[in-house]
Amino acid sequence: MRIRLCTIDDYPAVVTLLQHYRPSYTIEAMHHEDDQHDPKCKIQRWITEYNGEILAYAMYAQNPHMYHPRKFQIGLLIHPHYDFEDSHISASTLYDHVIAQLQPLDPISAMIFVKDDVIHRYHIDLLKAKGFQEVQRQCSLSLNVPMFDFTSYAGTKEKLLNEGIEIKTFKELEADPNRNHKLYALENEVYQDVPFPEQTTAVNFDYFVQNKLNSPNFLPEAYFVAIHSNEYIGLSSLEARPGEKYLFTSLTGVKRFWRRHGVALAFKLCAISHAKSLGHAAIRTICNTSNKPIYELDKRLGFIPYQVTVLLQKVFH
Ligand SMILES: CC(C)(COP(=O)(O)OP(=O)(O)OC[C@H]1O[C@@H](n2cnc3c(N)ncnc32)[C@H](O)[C@@H]1OP(=O)(O)O)[C@@H](O)C(=O)NCCC(=O)NCCS
Repeated sequence: MRIRLCTIDDYPAVVTLLQHYRPSYTIEAMHHEDDQHDPKCKIQRWITEYNGEILAYAMYAQNPHMYHPRKFQIGLLIHPHYDFEDSHISASTLYDHVIAQLQPLDPISAMIFVKDDVIHRYHIDLLKAKGFQEVQRQCSLSLNVPMFDFTSYAGTKEKLLNEGIEIKTFKELEADPNRNHKLYALENEVYQDVPFPEQTTAVNFDYFVQNKLNSPNFLPEAYFVAIHSNEYIGLSSLEARPGEKYLFTSLTGVKRFWRRHGVALAFKLCAISHAKSLGHAAIRTICNTSNKPIYELDKRLGFIPYQVTVLLQKVFH
């Protein structure tokens, strides 16, 4: 097993490997991730070759939404045919390699997301043996869009209108010259209340534009904004997953003062209606199982959990 740095020439083979886990992943997406990379965030990637084929991809990176110069996220993907405990593609060796490569950077901590399923449970055991501890669980949820029945939610938008709250799409707001800056401020504000494992940090405006508004997954007619007296009070972002039959809800957030008025519920109904009109089979989302407000709302609407991911963290100091 040979581990070497990943170069741009390896991207096509790496994308082929990643597609085993994310079938819609493309080389364009990989280049887009490079283009939008925040230069203050360190990143390093490796591949493992065996008989000339790339069979594993390992990395460390820093997350601009939880930035700390000495805190890292690591990742490892092994070709599914070789992803088992006694494989000659050794997950343990690869984890040791990434952790060793972090040491010159004097890390405080490293975290990693691992699927909690029969195949990947051995990774969790390996990581725990290396000093990682579980800190959070995330649940992937899916809603059957064609089966969704709007009947019991009649009047939701009207109730908001009576309170002076209107929901518009990003596209409908194009006449507002401050739209992008207002959304940038709002995303940073609500991000602070998402229960991330580390303190959230504000991204800069250029990163927001490049990463969010210019993302190939951004749908201007499915990014919903709640407005009260010209103030943006909440947002919810429904995104494309090219090549897939589902759409994906990423961030949903409402300013603290306006919570429990039914704004997030109305966002979800707008998203379902939009997905239905385009003939999508499902809406997927991911939520931290300890984030009761959004988890309760999603379950109430009929989102079904289909996968659990464990977040493990190793503290070095
Ligand atoms: C999650 C969030 C968007 C909910 O927004 P909201 O507009 O207050 O939600 P709604 O008023 O539409 O609530 C709809 C339903 O969700 C559930 N819910 C909402 N907040 C809840 C809470 N604090 N506890 C339990 N259930 C809750 C309830 O079922 C509620 O219906 P009810 O009020 O009739 O009981 C908001 O709490 C928020 O911005 N949190 C911080 C950002 C975040 O964590 N986002 C989710 C991850 S992307």
